[in-house]
Amino acid sequence: KRPAGAPDPSLARKVTKVGVVGAGLMASQMALLFARRLEVPVVLTDLDQARLDKGVGYVHGEVDKLLAKGRLSPDQANRIKSLVTGSLTKDAFADADFVIEAVFEDLAVKKQVFAEVEEVVSAECVLATNTSSLSLTAMGADLKHPERLVGFHFFNPVAVMPLLEIIRGAATDDATLATAFSVGKTLKKSSVLVKDAPAFVVNRLLTRFMGEVVAAVDEGTPLETAEHALDGLGLPMTPFALLQLVGPAVGLHVAETLHEAFPGRFGVSENLAKLVESGKPGVYRPDLTLDPE
Ligand code: CAA
Repeated sequence: KRPAGAPDPSLARKVTKVGVVGAGLMASQMALLFARRLEVPVVLTDLDQARLDKGVGYVHGEVDKLLAKGRLSPDQANRIKSLVTGSLTKDAFADADFVIEAVFEDLAVKKQVFAEVEEVVSAECVLATNTSSLSLTAMGADLKHPERLVGFHFFNPVAVMPLLEIIRGAATDDATLATAFSVGKTLKKSSVLVKDAPAFVVNRLLTRFMGEVVAAVDEGTPLETAEHALDGLGLPMTPFALLQLVGPAVGLHVAETLHEAFPGRFGVSENLAKLVESGKPGVYRPDLTLDPE
């Protein structure tokens, strides 16, 4: 069944090579998924060799775990490893038809990344962003071809979470959107089309939930009580474990974006901001560190 709002699937373009900008945890998880499900070459880029090595190393490590569990045959494992490579320059994207970014959550940084990518890719290459809260329309404003920009928002852990939010910006055309849905299907994700609104849909709901837990602690509810109050409801993780999984900096950033857009509806915890600013654990759980990597 075609997801609500998805265009005619016959408009989708073929994807034969994927570029991933960034080699952090989210980017590396995405690279593994693309190589495993699309079975096409995937090139990761980042600013330094150490980050690239870590990203490619992560993919190899996860492939080894899947091999050990019997989820991949030795041939499949070797093939996936050989498909994922790292490059320090975006020239490696020249023949890519789908480039996705998972760099720092800052509009100016993402715009700069796409300006550089546009220099090397073809006019039809889809540009996808894994942004969790920023406006697609603003991100595409200075592109030569804003019609090929689309939001492609995964959830952590990428390998496990079935949901994919696909976001249409003001200029995104049907062929780009159809390609995004087709790729989402091959990745075996449940894709939903969401509006280009601050934090889209899922993070708006999650930020409300997480924001209230954090606010309860800020207001004096013992951490232990707030963290475990919902244990009996069958949620897969406690709220602070989820905050660690997402990354406190990402959580804070989404809260700030939502506060800016809807000041009366979303607050920003000063304690969470202090935790992120200090980069040190301890404001909430002692094991809550800035960087989930
Ligand atoms: N990478 C790859 N696989 C992972 C993984 C990871 N980081 N974490 C867990 N898994 C796999 C395990 O290998 C295991 O696979 P098998 O069944 O094949 O062995 C499976 O997931 C279950 O793992 P566990 O048994 O270890 O643990 P669990 O049952 O407690 O599940 C969880 C772990 C899937 C993370 C679960 O706790 C969960 O669903 N948590 C909620 C996560 C969530 O809400 N994510 C959304 C965050 S919001 C976001 O990301 C958006 C944003 O923009 C900020």
